[in-house]
Amino acid sequence: MTKLEAELYALTHRGNPGDRSYYAKACAGAQSVLELGTGYGRLIPDLLSTDSRIRPRAVIGLDRDPALLAAAKHAVARLSPGSRRQVRLVRGDMRDFDLGQEFDRVILPYNGLYCLLNRKDIVRCFSCVKRHLAPGGEFIFDVWAADRFHRDTRSNARSQAHYDDGEPIVSFAHRSQVWDVFEKSRLRCRVQRLDVTYTYVSRESGTSVTIPIEQRYAPSSELMELVTSAGLCIKAIYGNFARQRFGINSQYVVIRAGLGPQRGI
Ligand SMILES: C[S@@+](CC[C@H](N)C(=O)[O-])C[C@H]1O[C@@H](n2cnc3c(N)ncnc32)[C@H](O)[C@@H]1O
Repeated sequence: MTKLEAELYALTHRGNPGDRSYYAKACAGAQSVLELGTGYGRLIPDLLSTDSRIRPRAVIGLDRDPALLAAAKHAVARLSPGSRRQVRLVRGDMRDFDLGQEFDRVILPYNGLYCLLNRKDIVRCFSCVKRHLAPGGEFIFDVWAADRFHRDTRSNARSQAHYDDGEPIVSFAHRSQVWDVFEKSRLRCRVQRLDVTYTYVSRESGTSVTIPIEQRYAPSSELMELVTSAGLCIKAIYGNFARQRFGINSQYVVIRAGLGPQRGI
């Protein structure tokens, strides 16, 4: 991404309600946290905002996009000097990384897993996660729940479709310009792909910026199967950030896994 693309992306990808406090609580008391796909560092201040006695001592944010990492660097620069020293940003690929240390928490928030476009990439990512988990550590990730979507699209004519209603989904001011944001999606149900293109158009200059977001969604059964086949044990699966039980109508899938024995879920 360019700097402008990263700024526009950051203004429109703000996370899900409740996810910031969820991850902050989940990481409280951990010595070390690794966030895969840290993006522009949205969650980093939250991870370090807890009481100093339970705040993580070290947070590493890993991402492959240099412009997003530069934005994350700005977010870190706004932290207190003490918190700032606890953060390291690393350019890397979540499918293949070796940071030479173990972590109490490895987190992959806000649909980051859906950026991995095939099962092989997910397997590679999960095996790296396993190698980086400290004994008793936890791997936590969340994605939008695809179960119902996948079931419904598979069984009707929308198994392949383009969505584009031509109206801006949102408008906002940035760099003294008003930007209208248009969304186009392409669904290919057979390969579980829902690729979305965001186009930002400046009303003043007519400048247009396009950011494609490719994603491969997965039903919860597949996510659980991939987690367990990587040798990780599922500790909990929630349907939202208030820790409600996951079900077919849940909006999200939040999975917590570790190295230890599986609990009844
Ligand atoms: C949906 S964003 C989530 C950002 C952040 N975790 C948050 O909660 O706001 C997914 C992030 O994963 C990054 N990403 C995608 N594929 C990656 C890969 N193979 N390795 C590292 N980062 C990747 C993208 O650049 C993007 O910043």
